[in-house]
Amino acid sequence: MNSNKIREVFLEFFKSKQHEIVSSAPMVVKNDPTLMFTNAGMNQFKDMFLGNTPIINKRVADSQKCLRVSGKHNDLDEVGHDTYHHTMFEMLGNWSFGDYFKKEAIEWAWELIVDVYGMDKSRIYVSVFEGSDSDGVPFDQEAYDLWKSFLPESHIIKGNKKDNFWEMGETGPCGSCSELHFDLRDDSERAVIDGASLVNMDNPQVIEVWNLVFMQFNRKANGSLEPLPSKHVDTGMGFERLCMALQGKKSNYDTDVFQPIICRIAELSSVKYGEDIKRDIAMRVIADHIRAIAFSIADGQIPSNVKAGYVIRRILRRAVRYGYTYLNFKTPFMYKLVDTLAAQLGAQFPELIASQQLITKVIEEEENSFLRTLATGINLLEGVMSKTKDAGGKVISGEDAFVLYDTYGFPIDLTELIARENDMSVDIEQFEKELAEQKNRSRNAAAVETGDWIEVVAISSSEYVGYDLLETDIRIARYREVASKGKKLYQLVFDKTPFYGNSGGQVGDKGYISSANEKIEITDTQKENNLTVHITSTLPTNLGGSFRAVVNSVEHTASSNNHTATHLLHEALREVLGNHVEQKGSLVQPSGLRFDFSHFNKVTHEELQEVERIVNSKIRANSVLIEKIGRAHV
Ligand code: SER
Repeated sequence: MNSNKIREVFLEFFKSKQHEIVSSAPMVVKNDPTLMFTNAGMNQFKDMFLGNTPIINKRVADSQKCLRVSGKHNDLDEVGHDTYHHTMFEMLGNWSFGDYFKKEAIEWAWELIVDVYGMDKSRIYVSVFEGSDSDGVPFDQEAYDLWKSFLPESHIIKGNKKDNFWEMGETGPCGSCSELHFDLRDDSERAVIDGASLVNMDNPQVIEVWNLVFMQFNRKANGSLEPLPSKHVDTGMGFERLCMALQGKKSNYDTDVFQPIICRIAELSSVKYGEDIKRDIAMRVIADHIRAIAFSIADGQIPSNVKAGYVIRRILRRAVRYGYTYLNFKTPFMYKLVDTLAAQLGAQFPELIASQQLITKVIEEEENSFLRTLATGINLLEGVMSKTKDAGGKVISGEDAFVLYDTYGFPIDLTELIARENDMSVDIEQFEKELAEQKNRSRNAAAVETGDWIEVVAISSSEYVGYDLLETDIRIARYREVASKGKKLYQLVFDKTPFYGNSGGQVGDKGYISSANEKIEITDTQKENNLTVHITSTLPTNLGGSFRAVVNSVEHTASSNNHTATHLLHEALREVLGNHVEQKGSLVQPSGLRFDFSHFNKVTHEELQEVERIVNSKIRANSVLIEKIGRAHV
């Protein structure tokens, strides 16, 4: 079965079990402060598990683009060095939102893997949660008994909290899980060492393929577990690993998911895959990273110097550096892989085709600028080396290596490599010390401690009424304390709100809430998933009372006008520069707006004037625009 067929069979199977097939959510997360990238199929459903969003379809399945390069789930260091970890991967998943639970999840998983895909039963091992006294969660007897009807007990392994209790992050929905592991070793090896003893032992041939999570709890900030309003199922299967198993390969990179890209890299570098361990690693790194980078750009995340953009830039630089050092690529090459990727995955993910030209251009530009950085770095390093040699030394100081790394973006392993080539070494211990100190500094600057929500009035959602009203009577539904940089703030959620929450680049509303005896200033409003969160430095005393919520209408109107102007500008840019102009970022505030987009060339003075003329004429026409979600632009 080729990989496209394997994906299709998965989706068809769950369709036949009354699941609605949905599209992958974007890999780049825009409205969840706890996540930069989708790191699991369940992210887009987080609010359904928590009870913050009404459930429309109780059964859903999809193939989700995931990226595990930051936060709790981070596989970046392993990628390329082993054969089964990736930055970007597809996660096949089926979900039950308060509908079926362990029985169906396990029975269907077995039916799909064994009856439909035809996997050899004797190669399957499953794990169940052994329980945790500290969390007060018992051994998962139910899952154990269900598996027992399919597998001998010697193939059922009891796993600890690390492997068999799944959590999205430090807080949030979680629950015990049961994993399916496949033993893909040759029979001769299997005869000598029992597969059960290799489960979760980092053996590249005995690997976890599918994780069935039984969501039952919400992990609170104080570490305790609170039961969720209903029980849910969240399963995630590594698509690339499944392809390896079903195609009888020993490495994900040998499947048809990666081979076309590996072949293209081999062609461009004139290096054969499978002949030299270091070059193979480099080829795997590049084959993996091009996917992460291309999909991120397709989802609107251009490489940059901040946050998610910086993560993407680092991934791209990691790939370029491997190519530079081990495959002798001294000019841009990554961008030449985009066509291969689009041809291969464009049918399942049309965004790759839609943005193909943009992705190619952006990557080429990034490569060019990084290759310049490398050239500067090499110059500086040569200076450092001769200074060291002149002083009679052979060891480049940790401080010098750190300056090269931190200020000039020059990778430390490249410094080491070049030093070795010159019969020198680097004081890595000192370098690590400098790095740790710097990480500490930025961690302290960014640390935010978020308390648990405390419920005042139960609500299922908080309606935004600001399209019609800029002041109204509200009740406080929940609140929590947040400490950031030593400052204590409170976040309030209302039963309904006239405050516009910061989203889509528009800054949040300010204003106040008042009752007979107090007036509390709202300094900002933020959108967090589906909740509108109001920020204040004082907690109201009568939390259960009724308040008048009043938006600062002068600032709100100025922001609304600039929001409208963003649409006008976007349209005019498309008219003048072409339909590829997509909003890549935007800031809308009372005093003005910023609109980020990518274009292949520098925008000329004449083009800018034309854009300005179109926008001004639209403003003078004074027509009423209605946005799809209902906001009126006047
Ligand atoms: N959330 C689980 C995982 O990411 C199963 O989908 O492994």
